[in-house]
This record gives sequence, structure tokens and C-alpha cells, in this order.
Amino acid sequence: DWRMAGHRGALIVLEGADRAGKSTQARRLVEALRNQGYQAEGMRFPERTTEIGRLVGSYLEKKSNIEDHTVHLLFSANRWEHVPLIKEKLKSGITLVVDRYAFSGVAFTSSKEVKGHLSVRCRHGGFKETELPNFSLHWCKQPDVGLPKPDLVVFLNITPEEASKRGDYGTERYETSDFQKKVQKRYAELMDDKSLNWKVVDAAQSMEDVHNAIKQLSEAIITEARHQPVGKLWA
Ligand code: TMP
Ligand code: MG
Repeated sequence: DWRMAGHRGALIVLEGADRAGKSTQARRLVEALRNQGYQAEGMRFPERTTEIGRLVGSYLEKKSNIEDHTVHLLFSANRWEHVPLIKEKLKSGITLVVDRYAFSGVAFTSSKEVKGHLSVRCRHGGFKETELPNFSLHWCKQPDVGLPKPDLVVFLNITPEEASKRGDYGTERYETSDFQKKVQKRYAELMDDKSLNWKVVDAAQSMEDVHNAIKQLSEAIITEARHQPVGKLWA
């Protein structure tokens, strides 16, 4: 059967704000693909079980503080340490459904205010205090340049209002509606990049409708990707 032999699997990423339903949909997609006879496995980032992942997990649970640039690099390192595994799985024909990837990395870090102030000299003498600039998208992308490029990035789109109807955010770092609104804007900027295969799915639909939409997109990309080499992200 062509689904089994000789072709690489597809790299499918699910992105979106918290409460958009990424984890549920990722699980359901893997299950549905397997029922159709595809080899499919789930993966998620951050993957908190490695040494780097434990550092990131403890940071997210607010059990530790890590300087902003440093934790950004740790999130990226957590992806890089899985690259050999990702490549091996894809090569052996397994389609990977990944819950968050480099896009989360960029969207979240670039939504942070840099702490601290900068003194700048005014035209008429003297100094004035100004906020340090935010993390640029450009800076945030660099550590992830060259990662395996997703064949498909599904963006589960939900308004902050819809998301808040689904119950409270958790208590981890970043789980506030103000921060999530900034994150949404950064995702929108990332989606302007036409070198990536972004597909926006309305996550306010029923769980079933969202699932069917993602499944259809995924089956199409599995067929398309199987004869193509895996690309390099942002390279
Ligand atoms: P999770 O709730 O899906 O486990 O994700 C944990 C949090 O980590 C979530 O708020 C998004 C954030 N995050 C980053 O800040 N950078 C990253 O690179 C990734 C993958 C997630
Ligand atoms: Mg979370």
C-alpha cells in the first residue's frame, strides 16, 4: 500500500492561541490518520521531559526565573534536540502532528516587553529614559532557522473573547488575556510569510467541524509531500 512503503511522512504543525483546541485536535488528527491507514504520531513543544524541557517547564510553572533571551534559546534548543528524531520518523514514512513549533517561540517571545530602560541623549542636552525596544521578529526567528520546515501549518483561529468563554486560562506564565492578545498579533505577522503553507481554520466551529477541516488539509499534504524533500525553515 502506498501509505506504508517508500515515501516520507509529512510534517504538520498546529499553532494558535491558548484554548484554541490545539492539543485535542492534534490527538484526534493522529487517531483519524491512523484509522485511514497512515502511519502518524504526535509530538509537542515544549517537550518537557528532556533536561532542557525540564528547565523550560519549571520556568513556565513559575518555579524558576530565566532571563528572557536565555529562555527563548532554551525553547529553540528543545526543538533542535528533537531534530534527529523528527528526520528519522519522517524518513521512515511517519507523518508527525506537532502541537506548537517555532512559530510559538517567535510569537510568545516577541510579545514580551524587555525589562529595563535605556538612557538617550536629547538634542538640547541632558538625557531621557526610554523603554528598551521589544524583541524583533527577526531576532526571535534566528535560532530556529534551518529546522525541518513544516509541510503544513494549521492556525486554529479564535478571538480572545471566544477563548475566554472556554473557561479560565491556567496559572502558567503567559496565561493572561492581555498577553494572549499580543501573541495573536504576532501570529498574524508570521502568517504574512508566503514561503510557508499556512492554513487558517476557524476554531470557533464545533470540535467535529474543526477536526474534519484539519483532516482534509492533512490528507492532501501527505499526498503532496511524499515525493518532496523536507525543507529548511526560514532559510
Ligand atoms: P503548552 O501549554 O502548549 O505546553 O505551551 C506552554 C507555553 O509555552 C505556552 O504558553 C506557549 C509557550 N511557548 C513559548 O513561549 N515558546 C515556545 O517556543 C513554545 C513551543 C511555547
Ligand atoms: Mg498551556
